[in-house]
Amino acid sequence: MCGIVGYVGPRPALEVVVDGLRRLEYRGYDSAGVAVIDPVGGLRTAKKAGRIENLDKELAHQTITGTTGMGHTRWATHGAPTDRNAHPHVSGDGRVAVVHNGIIENFRELRRELEAQGTEFRSETDSEAVAHLVAAQLRGGAASLADAVRAVCRRLAGSFTLVVLDRDDPDVVVAARRNSPLVLGVGDGEMFLGSDVAAFIEFTREAVELGQDQVVELRRGGYTVTDFDGAPAHGRAYHVGWDLSAAEKGGYDYFMLKEIDEQPGAVADTLRGHLVDGHIVLDEQRVDVQELREIDKVFVVACGSSFHAGLIGKQAIEHWTRVPVEVELASEFRYRDPVLDRQTLVVAISQSGETADTLEALRYARDQRARVLAICNTNGAQIPRESDAVLYTHAGPEIGVASTKAFLAQVAAVELVGLAIAQARGTKYGDEIGREFDALAAVPDKIAEVLADLDPVRAVAREIAASKAVLFLGRHVGYPVALEGALKLKELAYMHAEGFPAGELKHGPIALIEDGLPVVVIMPSPTARSVLHQKVGSNIAEIKARGARTIVVAEAGDVAAREHADHLIEVPATPTLASPLVATVPLQVLAAEIAQARGYDIDKPRNLAKSVTVE
Ligand code: M6R
Repeated sequence: MCGIVGYVGPRPALEVVVDGLRRLEYRGYDSAGVAVIDPVGGLRTAKKAGRIENLDKELAHQTITGTTGMGHTRWATHGAPTDRNAHPHVSGDGRVAVVHNGIIENFRELRRELEAQGTEFRSETDSEAVAHLVAAQLRGGAASLADAVRAVCRRLAGSFTLVVLDRDDPDVVVAARRNSPLVLGVGDGEMFLGSDVAAFIEFTREAVELGQDQVVELRRGGYTVTDFDGAPAHGRAYHVGWDLSAAEKGGYDYFMLKEIDEQPGAVADTLRGHLVDGHIVLDEQRVDVQELREIDKVFVVACGSSFHAGLIGKQAIEHWTRVPVEVELASEFRYRDPVLDRQTLVVAISQSGETADTLEALRYARDQRARVLAICNTNGAQIPRESDAVLYTHAGPEIGVASTKAFLAQVAAVELVGLAIAQARGTKYGDEIGREFDALAAVPDKIAEVLADLDPVRAVAREIAASKAVLFLGRHVGYPVALEGALKLKELAYMHAEGFPAGELKHGPIALIEDGLPVVVIMPSPTARSVLHQKVGSNIAEIKARGARTIVVAEAGDVAAREHADHLIEVPATPTLASPLVATVPLQVLAAEIAQARGYDIDKPRNLAKSVTVE
């Protein structure tokens, strides 16, 4: 949540910073602002509520020069999304500017202390206190801006990425991080900062991930990292494996539409290299095979779409390994005293690798001595860094707030984990594991088939775009697909949408059915689990009899589905455990089409941000 950009070098800082903010806008779009140290005008700031276009308009009336600067795009926590609460925040003496991502948990006591000393606050944010505190340190004789920031960081509780400028030291940018992300970009005679590498990928692919509780001082010629006490420290340097084109729309109207089309590649790339000589291999494996053999319970912890990927994973892991799996929302897990020990494997799924609830859940699990395996799409993010083992998804950067390609890649990855456990425990023979892997590996072509024939989905979308609500039904792996379809519709089209297990209908939800209500049903394969196929067929008949307009997602050639469907969306036949990878795709498109028909921005739905770094 919140995007941060920083720059020091020979270029006009304003341009670099505003371009970086545009690439990070997916992290929050309640307001945007910049600060530049102008050789003529001193510390110059501009900030505006709303999207970056509003800031652009504000900047159009100003001439700001200078080659040291920073910017911020906000997802509001403390204080409404107004101009006043937008970042940067400046100290009362006009010397120090600060941008902040995260929450300063002890800001009330800090604010009281500063107000008692006569400081006037101009915003309702927690962040403003940091600007005043750093300025006070400098006035009190701190040897450098970095020293002042370190002293303030030692007093802060909570999570924060901070970037700080000092008007009186124009060639330096100082940043600090605890829990919230921050990456440096190392250029030739210039240095960049970003909440993620998209902020500076246009200029350099050499990145350094700043570690927990570290402060960095950037100058044109290089950077110095220390801990909060000033002891020398190191970030983790890496080369970014993708380039600017991956972070651009490439001719699409929205990132989400591009990302939907990239799904065959995302699944193929996630599976690639994980079956070697008939053996499943994961990435960084610090849980040894003996430990995998001894686990007697798996917990999957995640939020949102990643949680739905976990629900699909449960079906696969239990089926292949016979180890019981519980799937929990990370925000619930850590507050309810779950039963964990050394023989528990916790699988933490997160696209961003930053989600605060998932991070805290895995920390809790490690405190209980459980082993933690992360499934993550972001190289070097905090969640994989703090886990015992990592399996990276290779979906590439996902910029649309609604998860699409990352979700499919997570499903593929969690199933790989299931196969790895089955292999370690010997619950599947090598050739069986090979066949299951092949079923997954065949999926990208099937997704491509779905993407090549979306007209029926678009036609339904147009017909139901004005509906007040849509229900989604599924059973077995179809149930999490229904949940995911409903989540996409809620977050993009702001429609009331609910996913239910189809078998649960008669225990209450069927009361919602009224004439013309659209109900999307995920039909199980007629071949693999014909009992469930028949049961879902009966469920459709029951709702149709009560006036529902049925939209059925079914395998091509499923005659029974055709009989029950007012609208039929056919997908290629796929083995049950791999089928969510195919059946989810039309639901993503349905939500995107309905949202566009209703006139909404599908990349930046209201009230949301891509990475939820606060609890
Ligand atoms: O980065 P994460 O996978 O941890 O994010 C989890 C959820 O915030 C995320 O999946 C969210 O639900 C998406 N907006 C869904 O489209």
